[in-house]
Amino acid sequence: MTAEAGLPDTLRDLPACTPDPVELADLELLLAGVYRPLSGFLGSFDTAMVIAGGRLSDGTPWPVPVTLTVPKDLTGHERIVLQDPEGVPLAVLTVAEAWQDPTTQAWRLAGPLEGLRAPAHGPFHALRRRPDELDPAEGNLLAVATREPLHRKQLGQLRQVAERLSAQVLVLPLLGGEHDESLVRALLGVRKELPDGARIIPVPLPARGTGPEQDERDVRLRAHVAAAYGATHLLADAELAGTAIPLVVPEPWAYDADVEVWRPVARIEPDHVQAELTRERLHELLDAGEPVPDWFTPPAVAAELALARPPKRSRGITVFFTGLSGSGKSTIARGLSDALIERGGRTVTLLDGDVVRRMLSAGLTFSRADRDLNIRRIGFVAAEITRHGGTAICAPIAPYAATRAEVRRMVSAVGDFILVHVATPLEECERRDRKGLYAKARAGQIPEFTGISDPYEEPDDADLTLDTSRMAPQEAVGKVVDLLVAGGWVRPA
Ligand code: ADX
Repeated sequence: MTAEAGLPDTLRDLPACTPDPVELADLELLLAGVYRPLSGFLGSFDTAMVIAGGRLSDGTPWPVPVTLTVPKDLTGHERIVLQDPEGVPLAVLTVAEAWQDPTTQAWRLAGPLEGLRAPAHGPFHALRRRPDELDPAEGNLLAVATREPLHRKQLGQLRQVAERLSAQVLVLPLLGGEHDESLVRALLGVRKELPDGARIIPVPLPARGTGPEQDERDVRLRAHVAAAYGATHLLADAELAGTAIPLVVPEPWAYDADVEVWRPVARIEPDHVQAELTRERLHELLDAGEPVPDWFTPPAVAAELALARPPKRSRGITVFFTGLSGSGKSTIARGLSDALIERGGRTVTLLDGDVVRRMLSAGLTFSRADRDLNIRRIGFVAAEITRHGGTAICAPIAPYAATRAEVRRMVSAVGDFILVHVATPLEECERRDRKGLYAKARAGQIPEFTGISDPYEEPDDADLTLDTSRMAPQEAVGKVVDLLVAGGWVRPA
């Protein structure tokens, strides 16, 4: 492996491809030997076998398909370079099979990998270790592979199980969520509460979906990863047979309100058992900016929870208006921006459709591809504003449901998103024809005009629908403000 040398001459002419985040994580774990016996991305047969029965074609248990999707034009090459999102080459894939996924029709490449440099990057990369960099543990090693911080209950259970097994402890924060840094800091912050000598090693292992079957496959994969790092046991919520290393399910614990400690339920007088803090209640407290109780989690963890889920009042939000040209989007969006600035307490950025088209999207046409690109650019900027706790108000036509859904996903990962459908009927927009565009479109002078000669997909996921043929602009603005106040994002007047 060449540490920092440039791309060898022989590789310079190979086509390159940037895998998606899950594939990049898989690549890192493949190269680090964490996914042994896998040494590369899976082919069609192995993938089908894994999906059908959780085994590779040679019978080895393997829980999840580890595949690489590429654009079709990359399927005709013998070797390709895999690079990170900044274009740094990470590995060379020698193509053993190019195949098409039978359900998604996506093109996939399978074959062995040659690492060019360690792909680990990003915050806390200094904590990362390849399994072969660790000294083998003497005796038992109990792993906790988690995407959630450890609260007082889990910490108590972990200490109890570690003691029972006379095990050392290995905590594996699983990266790939939106709040990886918070997760790692929350675990580093409770180091004192972990058994002596516990190690914390972040591992890139994004969740691959939800549902009972996915959850089970995810636990099996965690067991594989933990085993690769030398663990002999994995702490788990439920029993599961046939995992790479045995799962250990701790006995139930609860908070004893009488003596104010967490301990096994079996040792608590039934009427002293305090009810759990539910996930919903925890979210309510965080949303309202109220303190998370100390009996539930150590202060270091509470502080990270509040950073990862800020109070609604200071959490970033995108208000995304969609509707036909002339429906009143820009007027309401400007009115909303003014109303929020007058109230104070939030910073506002207005991304109006026409303004964006003059700046960010200058040169784009009104073809489907260019409209989608325009909306994705707006979504990218809105998500950044939202991530930093601001308010983004967007007002493009955004005629396609799939692209709006993409923006909702991008923004929701880092804050809150509200879709407002400005549902003024086409006849009314055309009657107003403030810019004279409808007349031109009818006369055939503007091709692909939304509502006339180009589609507008009505949203079925709008959080609010406004029809400006039935209400004055100020009333429409009032309705959006009311929604923001009711949701806690904006303080009442
Ligand atoms: S979007 O489809 O990509 O979301 P966007 O909101 O940026 O559209 O731009 C729409 C504005 O561009 C309209 O308000 C109108 O002034 C102008 N425009 C020019 N040509 C077209 C067209 N073919 N279809 C719709 N709007 C057009």
